[in-house]
Amino acid sequence: MNLTEFRTHYEPLIQQQMAEQILSLSIPNSLKESMHYSLQAGGKRIRPILLLAVLHELSGEEHPDALKVAAAIEMIHTYSLIHDDLPSMDNDDLRRGMPTNHKVFGEAVAILAGDALLTYSFGIVARLQHVSSDDKVRLIDLMSVSSGAEGMVGGQVLDIEGEEKKLTLQELEQVHRLKTGALLTYSILAGGILAKASNEEMMALSRFGEHLGLAFQIQDDILDVTGTSEELGKTAGKDESSEKSTYPGLLTLPKAKEKLEYHASQAIDALHSLKGEQSLLLQLTQLIVQRKS
Ligand code: IPE
Ligand code: IPE
Ligand code: MG
Ligand code: MG
Ligand code: MG
Repeated sequence: MNLTEFRTHYEPLIQQQMAEQILSLSIPNSLKESMHYSLQAGGKRIRPILLLAVLHELSGEEHPDALKVAAAIEMIHTYSLIHDDLPSMDNDDLRRGMPTNHKVFGEAVAILAGDALLTYSFGIVARLQHVSSDDKVRLIDLMSVSSGAEGMVGGQVLDIEGEEKKLTLQELEQVHRLKTGALLTYSILAGGILAKASNEEMMALSRFGEHLGLAFQIQDDILDVTGTSEELGKTAGKDESSEKSTYPGLLTLPKAKEKLEYHASQAIDALHSLKGEQSLLLQLTQLIVQRKS
């Protein structure tokens, strides 16, 4: 199966899984609508697809709980976007081609919908039925580290503190590693855990994730400069106007593109230490470099 077929097959299933998880809850209507609104607005679903692709490449089989873990990760990612767009953070009006969550539901509900998506995702993993208790603890522990203070949340703080400053390349790399790389790498490692990957395979996946995560955020920074709001589904040119520290800002656009290529090639190199062709993961790496949104 090529990546286009793989995504065409799985994207509706990811969407359906998330809708089922949310719509079955007995919770205040405004909260449910707000959570559902941002989840169904779309997006590339790169993280769930990464998990499913790693599982496919390593085990060659489906796993009865994979879609649940994939949905839980997409919920954490979606919560991070809702909060990222808040007036006190990046102050954005447009996300996934639609008005941002707080523009529709107000700031209080948007914050709480984010909180609810985050906490619910841990419950989804805790209730998996086809994963050993040991693996569930591993999944939950890594999920907490990757999304929390030592991972994405810590990175978001560094990102905000990096506004109106000139970070060193090393500092900027650390921001990107944490705010974006950590959760992306988690998606990959969660696929490895479900595939019962060996320690060696987990190490290769981790190296793959590290470089892919950096490549992903460098491309996000580049697209903020070169893309249009229509293509991106979010406001283009936002980083410059908020004086963010970014790769193109620090290095110039051509040098940022070189870094993107470098990390993509390192990611591909990490794949070479895994058995098999890893065709889906190679195609995903190419997609991340070539994407226009
Ligand atoms: C945007 O992520 C925020 C970053 C971490 C760069 P995506 O580019 O994956 O956003 P969606 O999910 O496709 O909307
Ligand atoms: C966001 O980075 C990373 C998150 C953890 C949400 P950005 O602020 O660059 O993401 P966009 O460009 O708004 O999607
Ligand atoms: Mg941000
Ligand atoms: Mg932002
Ligand atoms: Mg951005």
